[in-house]
Amino acid sequence: MSRWPQHSGTDSPQGWHAVIVGEVKHGHLATRAKGEPLDMHSHTPAEQSMVGMSVITLDDLSVANITTLLNKARYIDTHRREVAHTCDGRVLATLFYEPSTRTRLSFETAMLRLGGQVIGFAGAQLASVTKGESISDTLKTVSNYVDVVAIRHPKEGAALVAAEAASVPVINAGDGGHMHPTQTLADLATLQSRFGRVNDLTIGLCGDLTFGRTVHSLIETLCRFGNVRFILISPKELRTPQYVLNRINATPSCSYEEVSDLTSVIGDLDALYMTRVQKERFFNEDDYLRLRDTYILDEAKLALAKPDMAVLHPLPRVNEIAKDVDNDPRAAYFEQVKNGMLMRMALESSVLGDTLPGFDAFENKEVAA
Ligand code: NCD
Repeated sequence: MSRWPQHSGTDSPQGWHAVIVGEVKHGHLATRAKGEPLDMHSHTPAEQSMVGMSVITLDDLSVANITTLLNKARYIDTHRREVAHTCDGRVLATLFYEPSTRTRLSFETAMLRLGGQVIGFAGAQLASVTKGESISDTLKTVSNYVDVVAIRHPKEGAALVAAEAASVPVINAGDGGHMHPTQTLADLATLQSRFGRVNDLTIGLCGDLTFGRTVHSLIETLCRFGNVRFILISPKELRTPQYVLNRINATPSCSYEEVSDLTSVIGDLDALYMTRVQKERFFNEDDYLRLRDTYILDEAKLALAKPDMAVLHPLPRVNEIAKDVDNDPRAAYFEQVKNGMLMRMALESSVLGDTLPGFDAFENKEVAA
């Protein structure tokens, strides 16, 4: 099921993106709250290329950009005081047209912990959209108030429309069943901390692979790091969309298998990425009720897994991971939450061009081969 026109998949995004970056740089400098010119000389090329950038999918970032973000997040974690004023005077807007707990609070906490401030709404019923305002008009308006926007919307493509209308960087916090790039940043940081790498892994993705946008973003990005064997575990009704499979097919070092039984493959996995069946994207409640409890990971199933397999989940969970798994050292999903905040701190400061004091970008080490 192809729900969305695909990006080129290269490390040098072209086209609409380049146009927006050009506009944003100008707007960004004009609205810089600190009143300082941007010192591009203090940025490495990987950092420079993120300034003013909108992030709709992680294809918008190069592998070097993503590696820089991973390094920045690690730095931030151990240098909280040093970075606490990185974004002084900045304002983030969180425009959330769909429910959220972690993602919105994480975007907001990230900006607050960098010294910036936050405005926004959580729930479309609170915004002028109920009066009939378009996303474009909302973004043209909000661009006058803030330096960066995080948007979540139930429609695929809404974040791209928002980025085209905005004159400040826009970060996609989830657009329908399409993509969720900042969740992928959290997932990558978690894999990196568990395995010291994000490639050369066998990764099982289990549950709602049709509507689970976190899965789509993660596969797209892992293909760029390469050498990943994907085991796609779902009922036949919730298989991975073709445009995502095409991405794996186009990556010679990656492969996939589609299976419906978790227990028969769990022993092969380095990481198991569980997902919730996305109730809100079903047209028919009976289908949801029939499919929602297809997979429940519990200690009995984990007994069949490798001793160092990592269990990831973007959360919220419903029934798909039993609570007894929480105490298993393989459970990594609450670490993912922390990593999500750190990666959003890294991303927000990077698109704003705000240098993290003390972060020596020249010491960055490539994660990718
Ligand atoms: C995910 C989402 O919104 O796509 N949640 C999140 O952002 N951490 C996953 C989900 O809702 O199931």
